[in-house]
Amino acid sequence: MNKQALIDTAQAMVANDKGLLAMDESDPTCNKRFAALGIPQTVEARRAYRELLVTTPDLGEAISGAILYDETIRQRTKEGKLFLEELTDAGIIPGIKVDMGAKDLAGHPGERITEGLDGLRDRLAEYAGMGARFAKWRAVIAIGTDLPSRGCVEANAQALARYAALCQEAGLVPIVEPEVLMDGDHTLELCAEVTEEVLRIVFDQLNEQGVLLEGIILKPNMVLPGLKSPRQASVEAVTEATVNVLLRTVPAAVPGVAFLSGGQSAELASARLNAMNARYGARAPWALAFSFARAIQQPALEAWHGDDANVLAAQRILLHRARCNRAARRGEYTAAMEEENNDRTAPDAVADDTHKRS
Ligand code: 13P
Repeated sequence: MNKQALIDTAQAMVANDKGLLAMDESDPTCNKRFAALGIPQTVEARRAYRELLVTTPDLGEAISGAILYDETIRQRTKEGKLFLEELTDAGIIPGIKVDMGAKDLAGHPGERITEGLDGLRDRLAEYAGMGARFAKWRAVIAIGTDLPSRGCVEANAQALARYAALCQEAGLVPIVEPEVLMDGDHTLELCAEVTEEVLRIVFDQLNEQGVLLEGIILKPNMVLPGLKSPRQASVEAVTEATVNVLLRTVPAAVPGVAFLSGGQSAELASARLNAMNARYGARAPWALAFSFARAIQQPALEAWHGDDANVLAAQRILLHRARCNRAARRGEYTAAMEEENNDRTAPDAVADDTHKRS
């Protein structure tokens, strides 16, 4: 294991106030998002959409790395260039999702375990050979009556740690993603309690497995009330709860915390990230960054709507969200940034939307 190379990559993933573009939706998840907008669920539609993302002009200004998926790492632009090369040429570090999804955990109704450890060493070697420099594995933890169970949290934490050790052996920086889900009506306080417990167990397991903490990126949820909770929380409350949980659980050796968005709106995710950096950025021992999928892609996906004529409008919207999140890393994001962008994109977006869907 070349420790210095891992440390350099992990630091580069959160350097210069940039963050990660998660574009690693599995085929079923990507198809689900397409279906909701009436976009055909074909290999070609997925390819065309991902081409739109990776060829967005100036994306490297705000995006340090992009997470691909097994299908996309092998795909090419219409001109025949691998997406991975397109990203590398734009100064964006390519990474790859390597888990095989969350499956029902036997003996634990309502809970899931992420699979994919069998054969992982060989898959990592192949991806590293193709040019990937980091990987991602997502574990999901549900909050509910008597959930999560200790058994579920420990099993997922151990899998995350074994995955992380294998990644580092292969020279890939592991993104360690234990996601406490927003589904449900739980309070912010309960999410804080569960997230703290989960992170404690995850770091215990990372240490047990000998993972180099300087060579990982943590991808946690923000601490939020459940989507159906009658008591939604202010930006300040989310900021304080999230940073307090992280300060208690995440060792200072970890270079970066790159949040997932988890179902928050694009604007709220930016506003909350901004508040964390404005209030705590200077004294947090790790970078407070982003690794959003929905909160960065969804507005662009809606603008594209499966129609080639909307590619430029969608790319402008994607770049705008990337820039908003970079501003949020500096504590400089404002609601006015959204207004300025609406002024610039609305006429095109409306005009483009009149094209027929392909
Ligand atoms: P969201 O930002 O849409 O939660 O996705 C992040 C991610 O990579 C989930 O694994």
